[in-house]
Amino acid sequence: MKADVVVVGAGAAGLMCALTAGYAGQRVLVLDHANKPGKKILMSGGGRCNFTNLATGPSNFFSSNPRFCISALKRYRPEHFVELVERHGLEYVEKAPGQLFCAHSAKDLLEVLLTECEWAGVELRLKTAVERIERQGEGMQLATSCGLIEAGAVVIATGGLSIPTMGATGFGYEIARQFGLTVTETRPALVPFTLTSQWKARAADLAGVACDVAVSTIRDGQRLGPGRDRCYREPMLFTHRGLSGPGMLQISSYWLPGDELEIDLLPGVSVGEALAAARRDTPRRQLSTWLAERLPRRLAQALVEWYVEDPTLAELSNARIEAWRERLGGWRLKPAGTEGWRTAEVTQGGVDTRGISSRDFSVEGLPQLRFIGEVLDVTGELGGYNFQWAWASGVACGLSV
Ligand code: FDA
Repeated sequence: MKADVVVVGAGAAGLMCALTAGYAGQRVLVLDHANKPGKKILMSGGGRCNFTNLATGPSNFFSSNPRFCISALKRYRPEHFVELVERHGLEYVEKAPGQLFCAHSAKDLLEVLLTECEWAGVELRLKTAVERIERQGEGMQLATSCGLIEAGAVVIATGGLSIPTMGATGFGYEIARQFGLTVTETRPALVPFTLTSQWKARAADLAGVACDVAVSTIRDGQRLGPGRDRCYREPMLFTHRGLSGPGMLQISSYWLPGDELEIDLLPGVSVGEALAAARRDTPRRQLSTWLAERLPRRLAQALVEWYVEDPTLAELSNARIEAWRERLGGWRLKPAGTEGWRTAEVTQGGVDTRGISSRDFSVEGLPQLRFIGEVLDVTGELGGYNFQWAWASGVACGLSV
């Protein structure tokens, strides 16, 4: 069997690349070992897929080669993808500023991509495992569970390692190494934290409680996180295993084992000043009442239990106010770890982009082999950036393959 282009992986990047190359006149075959295409699209964004972020820019990505993503992101922007889905009448909503989600179901978005693939004449073969890929003259040869396939070019779009039960494999990294590329260290990112015994039990008691926080990670006394404030200001969720929610998923991309988290439970509130004012104005109120006006009631109650004190505000000395300022404004704790590949949304690290062209995603010196999407060492923050990377890298490669 022969094709101009074989795309390995029928995920977001692979389908986008395939339909683009198909429209450009190439005979395209997409192979995937899974029984369905786009499984991660279907499970993303709570089943409604946060398919792009209107504010996407290079600063939303982590990579050991940070400039690599600039070219593709500039050429294929969020508005281009929005135009595509609008042509299909897909309804979407902006849930948070810039974050676009399907209004009904991620299935609608996958349908858009599959329809486009069909119109572009792309052939899709599922339940097909790729066993080997070898160079053959100017082209490539693939040994698959359905026999040998000759291809003018092969695009590796096999994604990262997260959620192995959804078909994730390290196959893309193996192929990269086989052809002399480096693979940077991979680790789970956008992943919840697990806690050790005392804090684990406390978090479990509060499972389901959420509040807005500002969170940083602390390493060797240094605060790490995005922007000037070095923190993410997003919701946190207590779980049976530890801490989750957007704020925790975001900071996990900065966190390394051994780091502490610093969590401001009342971001934007100057706790010392606010407590001193409340002591003056409402001295007979309990501290827990003051807390419950600013935090979920269960968390407010838990805090006074953890620190075994629920004084009236009049009883708060300046030293006690200072202690509460630290507890509320800079709660420090060391996670035991993360939930790992089982629940991580993405893989940080991957195929080192220093061996790849940022224009067409080909391997230096081997233009018939290309890598796109999450398999590369380019990882977005939470908020639709990872899909925008899949679309942008898929299009840049598909136009030129
Ligand atoms: P992707 O993983 O989508 O596709 C890879 C494909 O390759 C799969 O179909 C797999 O079966 C196939 N494959 C792997 N090995 C193979 C082999 N050896 N042979 C053949 N086929 C093989 N991002 C975002 O921007 N917004 C969001 O809302 C979310 N939400 C979200 C939720 C959850 C639970 C997860 C796990 C992830 C997200 N993400 C996200 C991240 C996003 O899903 C991810 O970055 C993209 O799907 C990556 O697209 P790729 O096409 O690169 O890989």
